[in-house]
Amino acid sequence: MTKQLAEYPVWRVSGATTGIALREVRRSLEKSALNEKPGAGEGRVAVVTGATGGIGQALVRRMRARGYTIIILSRQARAASPGINTVMCDLTDSGSITQAAADIAAHTPKVDVLVHCAGIITPQAVGELDSATIASQIAVDLTAPIELTNALLPIMRRGGHIVFVNSMAAAFPLAGSSVYTAAKFGLRGFARALEQELRPRRIQVSSIYPASVNTPMLSQEMAAGGSIYNFIDPPQEPDVTAGRILECCERGSREVFSSVFDKLFTHACLTSMRLLNLSLPIMKLLGRRGYRRYQRGLTPRP
Ligand SMILES: NC(=O)c1ccc[n+]([C@@H]2O[C@H](COP(=O)([O-])OP(=O)(O)OC[C@H]3O[C@@H](n4cnc5c(N)ncnc54)[C@H](OP(=O)(O)O)[C@@H]3O)[C@@H](O)[C@H]2O)c1
Repeated sequence: MTKQLAEYPVWRVSGATTGIALREVRRSLEKSALNEKPGAGEGRVAVVTGATGGIGQALVRRMRARGYTIIILSRQARAASPGINTVMCDLTDSGSITQAAADIAAHTPKVDVLVHCAGIITPQAVGELDSATIASQIAVDLTAPIELTNALLPIMRRGGHIVFVNSMAAAFPLAGSSVYTAAKFGLRGFARALEQELRPRRIQVSSIYPASVNTPMLSQEMAAGGSIYNFIDPPQEPDVTAGRILECCERGSREVFSSVFDKLFTHACLTSMRLLNLSLPIMKLLGRRGYRRYQRGLTPRP
């Protein structure tokens, strides 16, 4: 059931924060209204990369529940199930992307939604970077979403939607994961330029910037010496992130952060390197504390 506005404690919030809080309340009312439309994806075709990963699996579950027909691009073969087909694709190989786009075009005349969710991160200090890991991160995190968008654009439906699953690393540089940071910064630039290009065709472009999410990527990243800043806040559950991605697919949001604070703070740090450098010691403390909690298995963020 949609919550009534008066049920929210927002009216007790004072002064200047009231405006921001009201906007958040309105957004969450809109979101809950969307989540109550189980048939919103009926008759719509979605192409999803990274669908076998932590966030991608949760997204596919949610999309199927809404009635979307889904085409998954993956390196892993899997049996077709109702409403879900897999097209084999290695996103590090541009020939494989071209072939996958041709297979999709043979299978469906129009694509309504394209979600770029595949991603990889390999923490390594600059000076110790190896060429293969530079190339694979740039390929999967940046080149592949560009190539796939380019290849599928001719069959994207007017009024369709393209969603880039980006990362907070596109606004808050991660020392030790500079290649991933560079790829995600680049992806943000591509999405912004694309958004302008596609306005005349009424194809909407969204980017979502999750902080840490409790998936195999996060465990692998931490096992390889990943950033402690991932734990300033407890990692989000993949299903929550998937819910936000789905909202992006069905609304016109251009850039979605986990919270208003995340968005404002990271952008203030982008504008002022001094603020960033002053904040880092506090963030390190918070991150270390959060990581100890995470290792003790405390509950993730709702
Ligand atoms: N987890 C986090 O903390 C976090 C935070 C912010 C943003 N993100 C972003 O969220 C997205 C999903 O992350 P996740 O945590 O769900 O990752 P994950 O569980 O590690 O899944 C990664 C997905 O990427 C696909 N992939 C990797 N290399 C590929 C390749 N060469 N060709 C085709 N597919 C490839 C994998 O597919 P196959 O192996 O099946 O082919 C898998 O489905 C990524 O873009 C990531 O940058 C994650």
